[in-house]
Amino acid sequence: MEILFYAYPHNAAAWMRSLASHLPNGTHIRLWQPGDNAHADHLITRNPSPELLIDRPGLQAVFNLGAGVDGLMQALQHPAATLSDHVPLIRLEDAGMASQMVDYVVHAVLHHHRRFDDYEASRRMGQWTPLPAPDKGAVEIGILGLGLLGTQVAQALQALGFKVRGWSRQPKPHNDVPCQSGAEGMATFLTGLDYLVNLLPLTPDTENILNKKMFQQLARGAYLINVARGAHLVEDDLLSAIQSGDLSGARLDVTRTEPLPTEHAFWREPRISITPHISAVNLMEPCMKQIAGKILALSRGELIAGVVDRSRGY
Ligand code: NAP
Ligand code: GLV
Repeated sequence: MEILFYAYPHNAAAWMRSLASHLPNGTHIRLWQPGDNAHADHLITRNPSPELLIDRPGLQAVFNLGAGVDGLMQALQHPAATLSDHVPLIRLEDAGMASQMVDYVVHAVLHHHRRFDDYEASRRMGQWTPLPAPDKGAVEIGILGLGLLGTQVAQALQALGFKVRGWSRQPKPHNDVPCQSGAEGMATFLTGLDYLVNLLPLTPDTENILNKKMFQQLARGAYLINVARGAHLVEDDLLSAIQSGDLSGARLDVTRTEPLPTEHAFWREPRISITPHISAVNLMEPCMKQIAGKILALSRGELIAGVVDRSRGY
């Protein structure tokens, strides 16, 4: 079996060794170099350049080293990407990311809910000022995207005692976490939310979804947590919503341009906290184990999960 790998250029050898450790002896894994158009049974990549995405002889599947496939879908739009529609695109499913995402979002919610920024401001002024904190049972949290990551985040927040609901594309009538779906469920989902967490995939349907109209439907002073993609957010609408008081602030792990340019207004707004796209990172061992498992399942002719529906874009 021949596997073509292109990701993590500074550490690719370690990733390839980890992959090899989960595959039979005799599997050949090579690092893609520009101009390599040769045979491969499987391609594993993250944010590929379009020249990688060609109909190379024998190609059975393309594995995306990431849960979100927006970068892959975008590269496929390029004229140099000639990959046929019948080649399945397979994304990572959790692979160690859900627990990181739970930690990140729970921390962000608790940090804001328990007013740690206000206490830090008091500390800087040498002031001992207890502040009221609302009962968790009265705090409403909405998760946009109740998929593999969103569901675990929602369950963790629910277990802490917050009132949690989700929003997805398809209805989920049997979910433990109440869920609205589609455009028709949006207003019911948004109304009265104190926290809005975004865990949607970036698709043509969800780009710019975090906007003024949405912010105005939340409880006044709601807090935004965006851990999905920067292009979900209309950046000027966030700044205006914070200035007007519609939102009390935001925690952003992702931005439209990454790294966020030094002159960007977000850096100068103290009510916006920023982290550099680290809420849930690819962990080498679980990622490579999952992909190797799927490669072996495909070679046995089995169906696998995580196949991207190209028409939906996720
Ligand atoms: P997933 O399992 O595919 O879940 C996606 C959820 O979004 C599903 O509930 C889906 O609805 C819903 N959805 C998609 N399009 C929708 C639409 N148009 N309207 C309403 N709901 C829609 O994905 P995941 O594994 O949880 O990952 C979610 C995203 O997190 C990724 O795409 C990626 O962008 C982001 N992410 C970020 C980081 C980071 O470090 N910041 C790390 C990992 C992932 P259905 O359930 O009805 O299909
Ligand atoms: C990271 O952002 C991912 O989509 O896995």
